[in-house]
Amino acid sequence: MQQDLLGRVALVTGAGAGIGRATAHSLAARGAIIGINDLKQELVDAAVAQVIAAGGKAFPVVQNVATRDGIYDAVRQTAGYAERFDILVNNAAWVRYQSVPDIQPETLDRMLDIGFKAVIWGIQAAAEVMSAERGGAIVNVASTAALKSAPNSMVYSGVKAGILGITRAAAAELGGRNIRVNAVCPSAVPTEGTQRNRNVERDARRVASTPMGRLGTVDDIASGIAFLASDDARFITAQALVVDGGITFTTL
Ligand SMILES: NC(=O)c1ccc[n+]([C@@H]2O[C@H](COP(=O)([O-])OP(=O)(O)OC[C@H]3O[C@@H](n4cnc5c(N)ncnc54)[C@H](O)[C@@H]3O)[C@@H](O)[C@H]2O)c1
Repeated sequence: MQQDLLGRVALVTGAGAGIGRATAHSLAARGAIIGINDLKQELVDAAVAQVIAAGGKAFPVVQNVATRDGIYDAVRQTAGYAERFDILVNNAAWVRYQSVPDIQPETLDRMLDIGFKAVIWGIQAAAEVMSAERGGAIVNVASTAALKSAPNSMVYSGVKAGILGITRAAAAELGGRNIRVNAVCPSAVPTEGTQRNRNVERDARRVASTPMGRLGTVDDIASGIAFLASDDARFITAQALVVDGGITFTTL
């Protein structure tokens, strides 16, 4: 693997599981030093140990990033580790699918706090610490649900579509400081978080509708994120990279 991110420092939120953990591995394999953020010490320590066991560099950033103070603290902890801050991956999320009449204020607030507001505060905090000369890269994890909706996903689709707006506006404003801001839109991939909603028949239907003929994996998504974070994407900003095996824009 090319070490094109050697010595760069990245914060990945919600990296104790799923797509975030795979992203930490992917960025570490390219040479970056990863601040692994999640809520629980044991989860974070386990993910840090895995990256180190694979030959990468990582350190723990235990913090609830659902508040402005929380994400600011996580960014500052990361920036303080090696006196630089190059990459932010806004990945953490808390997700519930509810029908229109079932949506409750608590669910809406919680999904907005971690899925939407934290992305805004994360960008604000990262822009503050990214170097004026080197700039940086921010990748926001959206979803194909930002582009194509299904029942019971009014809040989720709204949050993820909002992330695309945030991404473009932040890219417009921060490009002059050499800070690129992009999003990825993953299709459904098995993770700890999606386990509770797994449905074998629905997965089979998805596979049958996907040109690539399979479900995605966390590593498929992590590759897209690492690409956008790398210099290979140096002239790419304000984009939403759809990593979905083709399912969103095709009919088979
Ligand atoms: N898995 C999918 O099918 C899929 C598809 C499209 C988009 N996504 C998006 O990808 C991202 C990751 O999804 P996943 O399936 O890997 O999730 P996951 O639930 O497996 O992992 C998310 C991690 O984030 C952590 N987290 C939650 N709230 C936090 C907080 N306030 N502070 C710090 N950490 C927190 C959780 O503890 C968990 O370890 C999310 O933004 C999700 O919406 C996932």
